[in-house]
Amino acid sequence: MHLSNLKTKFIGRNIVHYQVVTSTMSVAKQLVKDDATEGTVIIADEQTEGRGRLGRTWIAPPASNLLISIILYPKLAQLSQLNMVAALSVSQAVEKVTELSSSIKWPNDILIRGKKVSGILIENILEGREVKASIVGIGINVNFFPDLDITPTPTSLSGECGKELSREMVLQCFLEEFEHLYKLLDTGQIVYEKWLARVETLGKTIRVKWNDRIEVGCAESIEPDGTLIMRCPDGSIRRVVAGEVTLQV
Ligand code: BTN
Repeated sequence: MHLSNLKTKFIGRNIVHYQVVTSTMSVAKQLVKDDATEGTVIIADEQTEGRGRLGRTWIAPPASNLLISIILYPKLAQLSQLNMVAALSVSQAVEKVTELSSSIKWPNDILIRGKKVSGILIENILEGREVKASIVGIGINVNFFPDLDITPTPTSLSGECGKELSREMVLQCFLEEFEHLYKLLDTGQIVYEKWLARVETLGKTIRVKWNDRIEVGCAESIEPDGTLIMRCPDGSIRRVVAGEVTLQV
């Protein structure tokens, strides 16, 4: 995949493109062991074991969608906001290429008209108690979406804007947004506020699934580290941490 006019300094300056891999996440982990530079992007046309959040699978036919992982070496304090950078940059890129507005379902699903066009999976590589690297995995349904009866309903960029789109164009736009926001992380607050402004979950009644227990409440607020504060019908508060639960809206 060739990006002729990429305006970034380090994100996507090194792109490793495969036809078929198990998962770009696994390839990225191997490249971290080989000391890959920050911003290295792994792209696959096809994954045989593509993975989603909470142990789910991620499906895309060959060369239809964007399947990417980015290798980062963030500071510890930046880790909790990495998913905000990722979700916000996808959401902004999606708006630029489709001219349709896009929102974020907490913690990091990207939606158009309430349907999911993209998901994010972050895996951290630990060395003792330190985080050695973070792998940010992004799947964007550019020209295909799986016809699954799940919430939120899947869709694709082409399905929403009525024409096929070039994966290169979406990728370039996304990488530029991503670098811009990742650099802003040093200032912390700005990314959180921009992300929060797009989160459509706030104020809604939500159903939180903790293993096999479901609790209903109102999504009252979200803290700068991404923790969602849910108000239960009896007035009590639950702190909901991304990665532990499924949100059923
Ligand atoms: C989700 O469950 O919403 C997250 C989906 C993340 C999918 C992407 S595709 C590229 C990267 N490689 C994977 O195996 N998963 C992520």
